[in-house]
Amino acid sequence: MKFPPSFLDEIRSRVSVSSVIGRRVAWDRRKSVPARGDYWACCPFHNEKTPSFHADDRKGRYYCFGCRQSGDIFTFLIEKEGLSFPEAVERLAQEAGLPMPKPAPGDEERENRRSSLYDVMEMAAAFFEAELQSARGARARGYLADRGISPSIQQDFRLGYAPDDRQALRSRLAEKNVKLEQMIEAGLLVSGEDIPVAYDRFRNRVMFPIRDARGRVIAFGGRALSDEVQPKYLNSPETPLFHKGRVLYNFDRARAHAQSAQTIILVEGYMDVIAMVRAGLAHCVAPLGTAFTEEQLAILWRAAPEPILCFDGDSAGLKALARAIDLALPMLKPGQSLRFALLPEGLDPDDLVKSEGAAALSAVVTAAEPLIEMLWRRELQRNDRATPERRAQFEREFETSIGRIGDSKVRQYYSAEIARRIRELFGAAPPRRWKARFPAFKPAVAARDKGRRDGKLARAWELAQPASLELKALARKAQSKQSAKRRETAILLAIINHPRLLDDFAEIFAELEFSGPQLDSLRREIIDIAALEASLDAAALRNHLNRKGFGPLLERLDGEFRRLGEWFVLPDAAANDVRTGFRQMVALHRKAVTLAKELALAETALAEHPTDENLKVLNEIREQMRSAAGEEALIDGFGEESGRPQGPVA
Ligand code: UTP
Ligand code: MN
Repeated sequence: MKFPPSFLDEIRSRVSVSSVIGRRVAWDRRKSVPARGDYWACCPFHNEKTPSFHADDRKGRYYCFGCRQSGDIFTFLIEKEGLSFPEAVERLAQEAGLPMPKPAPGDEERENRRSSLYDVMEMAAAFFEAELQSARGARARGYLADRGISPSIQQDFRLGYAPDDRQALRSRLAEKNVKLEQMIEAGLLVSGEDIPVAYDRFRNRVMFPIRDARGRVIAFGGRALSDEVQPKYLNSPETPLFHKGRVLYNFDRARAHAQSAQTIILVEGYMDVIAMVRAGLAHCVAPLGTAFTEEQLAILWRAAPEPILCFDGDSAGLKALARAIDLALPMLKPGQSLRFALLPEGLDPDDLVKSEGAAALSAVVTAAEPLIEMLWRRELQRNDRATPERRAQFEREFETSIGRIGDSKVRQYYSAEIARRIRELFGAAPPRRWKARFPAFKPAVAARDKGRRDGKLARAWELAQPASLELKALARKAQSKQSAKRRETAILLAIINHPRLLDDFAEIFAELEFSGPQLDSLRREIIDIAALEASLDAAALRNHLNRKGFGPLLERLDGEFRRLGEWFVLPDAAANDVRTGFRQMVALHRKAVTLAKELALAETALAEHPTDENLKVLNEIREQMRSAAGEEALIDGFGEESGRPQGPVA
């Protein structure tokens, strides 16, 4: 319904912008001048410590000098509380003590028809619910029980059962005086010119009512009781109430939880939403079997500034992820982005909860990574960068993607960040470069031994911490012992299974720095043996090592390759893959070792001399660690379509 502008103005004149916003923020007493209708606060749209958010009662508008959000009482409720425009009008009209305007005659008729359709849908939902509890619903109840869905969850989601009968719903609704035409309009019957008697669309299925943002039932999804029946899920067709691309399953409830969770999670299906809610992640929604649309993305952003899209780690999931990136780019705004979480390959949230429990699911969600990270990895994975032309191509792809970002500020930051990453990726190792720019280098070395973690350092660290948890986790990953040990194990296994690598890489191998003493002694032993014997094969090398007492260690390493997931170390990996994998792993390892050392120096330097310059250096190193961790994660398995060797893996 369209509201007359005079009505909206009347509301604006009665409800002040400061009173609406004042429920959400604390006005700054010193800066505000209530007598002039002039209010200041820390901005509710972005994080800040000093107030740059201004509300002006005379103009009836607000504006943030920091993030440039602006609007009036209606937009505030829409953007901050996730209301739709008509909902905001309704709420504020009530506050203003104004009755809602009468709709125009045409509107009224349409509204009436719609509202009676809602009633029809509600009757159908109640019918399905009752059927589930009846004798006819026994098999469906058994099915739900098998899937671990308790009666209380069934009630909570209003699950139901459509009996295996072509007239069951139709006759029930007819008893309640619903006209045939309405049942058809609501999408509940199958009808058409060649169908003499319209009949129930949903038969012998578990029913999931789909609600709109106000909680009214507008459609159904029906799941077959066995996997042989096609389609697995049957959904309502498009109706005056239901437009698939504009609805998200469970949004009405998730919205409230999104406020406190500060995010909202998108998964693939009905059952996944239920699994998430059961795992304590109530801020969860799903599209309805169609590809994710721009409208749905806009709905997510109404609920939270950085929704998390959750995808399966298989190739279909990665394809959907790549598509979502493209969909989102034109719509990014300052402070408005997406994060992505990848599930273990082949498991949906429902499977994951079943096999590994709720904590595993929360862990996946917590590990969600920002859009820029995914964009970066997507291009890394699509391009091999082996020649100058391909590197140029790689860079060109980014230009295209970034060019599609609608907001100029965001575009500018993406551009800068990607340029930096590309420089670093193609550039030389950093040590000398930064030493020259690092005035406190010498004192830092001297100071290292004297109490590194004093208060000053801790404070300096806090200053230097990247804002988001994800970045912290990635930085930690790059420097963690475990990830060093992983790399060292992979490098050793590659050499042991493919001693020919030493023909070309003996020197590199000899110069590597290993952090684990045991692994390092194995490394040195291999170097000694190789120096004595010109052409070693794998069996001979293993023999030598066994004789020197490395048998148990070898056995342990062999057992670890599964967990490693580095297929290139396997004895039957193709020679080319072995070389590429080995080189990448060594490069990563060197980078991590060097960076870890630089990090230690830079920390100490900053503690000694907390200058902007030193802070900058430290942050640069942290950035590099982050991108090293990103590459590592990439090699770890983001998009392995490119060529996992076939054949026996054992
Ligand atoms: P999935 O095939 O991943 O099903 O479809 P699922 O959610 O894991 O369901 P279970 O666990 O087998 O019961 C994901 C979503 O795609 C839509 C549904 O919305 C489903 O939740 N879908 C799927 C359909 O609309 N029709 C279909 O035939 C299949
Ligand atoms: Mn499933």
